[in-house]
Amino acid sequence: MRIAVFNQKGGVGKTTTTLNLAAATFRAGGQPLLLDLDPQCHLSHIPNAVPLDAGRSLFGFFQGVRPLEALTLSWEGLGRLIPSHQQLIKVDSIFGKGPAILNKLRTGLDALEEAIPGQAAQNTFIDCCPYVGVLSLNAIFACDLLIIPISTDYLSLQAADQMTRTLAILEPVLKRRLERRYLLTRCDRRRKMSEDVESQLRERYGDEVLASVISENVTVAESPARNRDVFTHNATSQGARDYQTLYAELQEKELLTAPAPTGGAPEH
Ligand SMILES: Nc1ncnc2c1ncn2[C@@H]1O[C@H](COP(=O)(O)OP(=O)(O)O)[C@@H](O)[C@H]1O
Ligand SMILES: [Mg+2]
Repeated sequence: MRIAVFNQKGGVGKTTTTLNLAAATFRAGGQPLLLDLDPQCHLSHIPNAVPLDAGRSLFGFFQGVRPLEALTLSWEGLGRLIPSHQQLIKVDSIFGKGPAILNKLRTGLDALEEAIPGQAAQNTFIDCCPYVGVLSLNAIFACDLLIIPISTDYLSLQAADQMTRTLAILEPVLKRRLERRYLLTRCDRRRKMSEDVESQLRERYGDEVLASVISENVTVAESPARNRDVFTHNATSQGARDYQTLYAELQEKELLTAPAPTGGAPEH
């Protein structure tokens, strides 16, 4: 499965969710592949993996210099990463518009799955940037599922509606319904605002809102600064429990590929 984590709003937990869902996948025996498609490089900074040479990041792929399989790095305890670089910000202006560029990541991932044995049976997580442009459209066009983190504040409800409108515009182009799930993040049940946002979101989007909710939790916030996912940082924290529950829900609903019983990891 290819899962893009996207919301046009920043600070809602896209990178945090990409990191910790991949970590839960790895702990369950998978070998996830993570793509950092945000020029801010927040995900790539966690394992200190931002390359000096932009050609060795996803920018090199969009330039046509290297295929995706030549850009993957091993991320110990998590799987593999294709890093970002700040030059990615130029992708919109350099490579511009047109349908060919929008399908580049999809065809690149198809080629990678052919090149690396076992890869097609693994989950790929794509961390997106907070705006609609060539980069996030590539992620949307490439993915089987969109996870849309919604932080529990009032502006987030507007962001959710904006996302829904954006997807409605794209669907006729894609000629398919974009499978999506909204994920409540940074929830603090002591605050009335969190409860209000949750009930309004569930009312508007029904079954597309995941039952799992990610609480505001200091371990979740701290762990990236220690170059770790939440499980490695503190496996008994509320944050680790929340992300484990989310992983289990996605597995149960068959929105993630289950790890192969034996020997399913890609040979690379
Ligand atoms: N559940 C959470 N509890 C506490 N802090 C969180 C939580 N989720 C995210 N954060 C913090 O909020 C900030 C924004 O999260 P991030 O994942 O970087 O958002 P985005 O990628 O959408 O911009 C970061 O400092 C992150 O550590
Ligand atoms: Mg981010």
